[in-house]
Amino acid sequence: MTVKESLFRLLKESGSNEFSGQKLARDLGMSRAAVWKAVEELRAEGCEITGGSNRGYKLVSTGDALLPETVRFFLKSGDDRPITVLETTDSTNNFAKKLAADGARDGSVIIAKEQTAGRGRRGHSFFSPAGTALYMSVIYRPENYRLGTELFTICAGCAVCEAIESLTGKKPLIKWVNDIFLDGKKICGILSESTLDLEGGTINNVVVGIGINISTENFPEDISDKAGNLGCAVSRAELAARVIDRMEDFLNRPRGEIISFYKSRSFVLGKTVSCERNGRVIAGKAADINESGALVLETDEGEIDLVAGEISLNI
Ligand code: BTN
Repeated sequence: MTVKESLFRLLKESGSNEFSGQKLARDLGMSRAAVWKAVEELRAEGCEITGGSNRGYKLVSTGDALLPETVRFFLKSGDDRPITVLETTDSTNNFAKKLAADGARDGSVIIAKEQTAGRGRRGHSFFSPAGTALYMSVIYRPENYRLGTELFTICAGCAVCEAIESLTGKKPLIKWVNDIFLDGKKICGILSESTLDLEGGTINNVVVGIGINISTENFPEDISDKAGNLGCAVSRAELAARVIDRMEDFLNRPRGEIISFYKSRSFVLGKTVSCERNGRVIAGKAADINESGALVLETDEGEIDLVAGEISLNI
């Protein structure tokens, strides 16, 4: 644990009590100058800490401080999963895949404040400027869940919707399979990637990468008319924790419940959509989402179950 994290934990645990610099220094086994420096660093991260040279320190709010400790603070109590927060990385999914290959445990979380090469589905990039969004990847070990991995992305979409609604009161909708929309704009993308255990013929791990635009603006031209943001301030640490908690909750729900929640948030069902299949564009009515998460299309050629791919809404 870094000095900053130990200090945060101590201040948090002291509740509304003020902590003298001297006591902090003693408890943390460091000089008062080091305490002062760490307080300044926490303030720079966004924590509101009162106190100073002749007044005790007190943590008033965590603001938008994005640290392992602030994320853990908002998680269900007793959650001791590994949480890594990076200033910058190419892609949290890339980072997570390396950790997973090195044996990272189920539920490990990687968050970055910025991504220099954020990735989307089908080779697209994900615009990831510093400080305006949540970029997070969670490593799952499928053997710990009864649910099939084909529903992990769907669970992530449901979790993001619930997390956003619980924090903002806004009700985002899902475009099959995993784009989250608010007021007609895409505010979140999800990229799930799995690694096969070739010998055992099973899935070794699933990395679920989630990018939520909180205040991101000035999108690249090719997405500027489609991409949006939450439109209100939320703490990235709290949003991350809510998504993690809700995701675990969905992963442990019965399949039917997950699909029924997912359907209640779909803005595709009942609409005419088109997609490319085997090099051909097909159109049809999005009639249902089945128990495997496939989109059931009613087309002139009969019913088709779309398992993966990109759909466009024919308006
Ligand atoms: C999409 O819209 O096609 C999916 C976008 C997924 C973006 C997230 S941000 C965190 C994680 N790291 C990445 O490089 N991608 C995912």
